Amino acid sequence: MARFTDKVAVITGGAGGIGKAAGQLFARDGAQVLLVDLDEKALQAAVKEIGSDQVSYCVADVTKPEQVQAYVDTAVNRYGGIDCFMNNAGVFGVIKPISDYPIEVFDKVIDVNLKGVWLGLKYVMPAMQKRGGGSIVITSSIAGVSGGAGSWAYVASKHAVIGLMRTASNEGAPHNIRVNTVNPTAVDTAMMRVLEDELAPGAGEAAKQQIETGIPLQRYGRPEDVANMMAYLCSDDGSFCTGSVYMVDGGSTSS
Ligand SMILES: NC(=O)c1ccc[n+]([C@@H]2O[C@H](COP(=O)([O-])OP(=O)(O)OC[C@H]3O[C@@H](n4cnc5c(N)ncnc54)[C@H](O)[C@@H]3O)[C@@H](O)[C@H]2O)c1
Repeated sequence: MARFTDKVAVITGGAGGIGKAAGQLFARDGAQVLLVDLDEKALQAAVKEIGSDQVSYCVADVTKPEQVQAYVDTAVNRYGGIDCFMNNAGVFGVIKPISDYPIEVFDKVIDVNLKGVWLGLKYVMPAMQKRGGGSIVITSSIAGVSGGAGSWAYVASKHAVIGLMRTASNEGAPHNIRVNTVNPTAVDTAMMRVLEDELAPGAGEAAKQQIETGIPLQRYGRPEDVANMMAYLCSDDGSFCTGSVYMVDGGSTSS
């Protein structure tokens, strides 16, 4: 039997690179999958690309409580509950010295990457509790365990969600809800195009090569690398894993 047979997986940022790869993997391994994202066209394209009748979508802004409640209700009404939750939607913002870092960008990044993750926990955990438990994976980053000059809001948000994860794992454990973070290095998705352009406007490919030389395994992560860790943590193989930080970083934080 496939490892996610009879399981329901909800994935925010489901139209993006990592979310779509997770959707594909969870569906392949038997789950019913709800992709959640702001971008309806990209959601339609993701569902089409995955090409499985086990995958559907829900348009929602993770920063809006009523829309978070609505994606939880959609999963419960459509599939009967939530077993696996990838709390994954995120934005990068900009790279600027503190004096130039725009306050509205700081607010936006914190809103999506921190408040959006907290709202996901707030509405998903009660639904999981009704189901008898489940597994939640929050997408942090290597920026959750180290700094990065100029990435003010991103670094702060990715550190902060580790605090949310630890708190949620404490609160969730008596209800059989496990909560962990995955912490990728650079992964080859649209988000890295934003970051490359911030580092070297108009010379993204050169920036990519430079970043890759700083990763011990000498390449960007693939979305599937992260999806594989998410699936492990949501499967029975990960049943003793909670409250922890799982690096998927090609050795980036090893020295
Ligand atoms: N790509 C990387 O190098 C990298 C590295 C470490 C961590 N991460 C994290 O992985 C997660 C997924 O990123 P990705 O690499 O797939 O990037 P991506 O840009 O391909 O996907 C992010 C998705 O989040 C969605 N989103 C943004 N704001 C939203 C909102 N308010 N409500 C709902 N959806 C919203 C976007 O529409 C997009 O589809 C993010 O949390 C990101 O910070 C990415």
